[in-house]
Amino acid sequence: MINLTINGKALAVPDGTTILEAAKDNGINIPHLCYLKDVHQSGACRMCVVEVEGMKNLQASCISQAKEGMVIHTNTGRVRNARKVLFELLMSDHPKDCLICSRNNHCEIQDLGEQIQVQNSRFEGSKSKSSLDNSSWAIEKDDSKCILCKRCVTVCNEIQGVGILNTQNRGFEATVAGGLDLPLGETVCTNCGQCVTVCPTGALKERDAITPVWDAIMDPKKVVVVQTAPAVRVA
Ligand code: FES
Repeated sequence: MINLTINGKALAVPDGTTILEAAKDNGINIPHLCYLKDVHQSGACRMCVVEVEGMKNLQASCISQAKEGMVIHTNTGRVRNARKVLFELLMSDHPKDCLICSRNNHCEIQDLGEQIQVQNSRFEGSKSKSSLDNSSWAIEKDDSKCILCKRCVTVCNEIQGVGILNTQNRGFEATVAGGLDLPLGETVCTNCGQCVTVCPTGALKERDAITPVWDAIMDPKKVVVVQTAPAVRVA
């Protein structure tokens, strides 16, 4: 076991535990975004930063292992300010159309904003290119809402073993897409939907049954596959 202190509380946790898990298991909340228990720990968003005595830089708690004798503070002015700025930077390149977004009221960015009490961003700068991929009959991908947490990439590659989604390009050009930047409908995606399940925003969503039919009405030349559930025989 490892002995450490978080916010003045003495804790003992198993060796190998991250700071975030040590805190969670002992009822201490550290706001986080890209981390998903047992699925994804990449340190991408840095929203989970904490102050560790003796360390100059703030540490991302979801990827930092708890060490013997560590003294950690999760809610200092420096930590709160870093979280606020990180959140504002994230929001500066995110659409503000929550009211018409399918994830409204069950969006992890909205939840985080409420938790840290920041709703808006002071920053207005460059924006990522917005592109909507509705080439798949089952999944719609909206890059403008993607925060590049890469949960979907982990699930697609390491858990489902399908290997379709990956990050492409860098900086403002960076997106999550099918291999060779192909639209989803042109890949061998199995439409398992697990990427949709783990997406924290509305970047990946299921297409409803009516959407492909609507597409066919709008573009009769397009080949539309509508999958229906097998008939169930009632005895
Ligand atoms: Fe730790 Fe995103 S939650 S870096």
